[in-house]
Amino acid sequence: MAKKTNNQDLMDKIVSLCKRRGFIFPGSEIYGGLANSWDYGPLGVELKNNVKNLWWKKFVQERDDMAGIDAALIMNPKVWEASGHTGSGFADPLIECKKCHERYRADKTPEFLCSKCGGREFTEPKMFNILMKTFLGAVEGEKSAAYLRGETAQGIFVNFKNILDTTRKTIPFGIAQIGKAFRNEITPGNFIFRTREFEQMEVEYFIRAEEWEKWFEHWRKQMIDWIKELGINTKKIHEIEIGDEERAHYSKRTIDFEYEFPFGRKELYGLAYRTDFDLKNHFKEPPYKDSDTGEEFWPHVIEPSLGVDRSVLAILLESYHEEKDSAKDGVSRTVLKLPLRLAPYKAAVFPLLANKPELVKKAREVYEILKKPITQSSNYPITVTWDDRGNIGKRYYSQDEIGTPFCITVDFESLENNDVTVRDRDTMKQKRVKIKELPGHLEKFLKNS
Ligand code: GAP
Repeated sequence: MAKKTNNQDLMDKIVSLCKRRGFIFPGSEIYGGLANSWDYGPLGVELKNNVKNLWWKKFVQERDDMAGIDAALIMNPKVWEASGHTGSGFADPLIECKKCHERYRADKTPEFLCSKCGGREFTEPKMFNILMKTFLGAVEGEKSAAYLRGETAQGIFVNFKNILDTTRKTIPFGIAQIGKAFRNEITPGNFIFRTREFEQMEVEYFIRAEEWEKWFEHWRKQMIDWIKELGINTKKIHEIEIGDEERAHYSKRTIDFEYEFPFGRKELYGLAYRTDFDLKNHFKEPPYKDSDTGEEFWPHVIEPSLGVDRSVLAILLESYHEEKDSAKDGVSRTVLKLPLRLAPYKAAVFPLLANKPELVKKAREVYEILKKPITQSSNYPITVTWDDRGNIGKRYYSQDEIGTPFCITVDFESLENNDVTVRDRDTMKQKRVKIKELPGHLEKFLKNS
């Protein structure tokens, strides 16, 4: 059997940790699974929500030039005709192995060797549209055919006038949306990297045509800032200028932000200048009127488009560490060094011994204090968990593995001094802190993170 590379090994470890600790499970598992479908578990949904909330806060709530929406997943099929997605613009070239009929993307099989049967003969490439078809109502047929949305962007474009009328925004301004998108990908795979159902965070930023370069640069920088906020090492990010041949049908300029995934350098996010392509196709009359000059026109668009699931994967890969623990004589610990704001739990509370009722009672009091929304000024709530299983060392390792930044232990000294030990995930250093000062102590770290 071929030896696994370190990179494959890392992916296997991430997939295994995700399943074992409740981040991400194989979809429909008890029925034998469904290839390339994944379900986010209790910790995964916290991590994913933290990513989405951070994005929403940064790009919608903290800016005056943004508005948010949450549009339907299934839209009138005419939307996808107008946007060009039912045509060849949203299709992948597909070839089929003549021996075993395995299908491949024609542009992604450089050696033209079937990985299933080793066959070398393939059919000519055929364009395969990747919009996912569905049927509305009880009777299947062309009349009831519809599509699950292939990108969140179209929900924004078709609501452009509604948003303009209700918010009275003037350009430059943007509309943001987070939500699911669906594509009949020919080659899904690499865990949550490429799936047929995934989530996007998209901004359509409406501008005057003559200012597109300025705003393209603005959003390029915003995307780099965002990548840093996720704790992703920007040395592993490569900005790739996409050539005329490969750009999407609507784009005049695209940069892909590629990340060094263990399975190769692949697209993490994209930034595109979509011109007025979409608004022109959806609105016969110019949908925008300059209030000063009375000029009517179709605004142009800059689009930063981010995948939620690819963000989660990159964050997990960046934060995964295996360390030697000097105190344990060379035994390694696995630790997810997640940015504090993204960690599913910010703190874990333990009684030193689970069979001492006085310790359990005191630890419960501390747990309840932290459970309450302790401060309005905090950037995010302190999500806290309880653990009284096994010994204290095992609990630390267990919390390290899921990235909990602080472990708080109530011991016998706590009963006399009203204090606790706070152990830091990254340094493993411990410090005694008075219980009444604990919320402020944690908040200080969380605020600066
Ligand atoms: N509205 C533009 C658009 O959808 P895209 O490059 O096709 O552009 C944008 O997709 C982002 O969505 C990608 O950079 C990636 O993060 C994510 N994405 C696209 N297809 C995906 C898939 N099959 N699985 C997971 N994420 C995907």
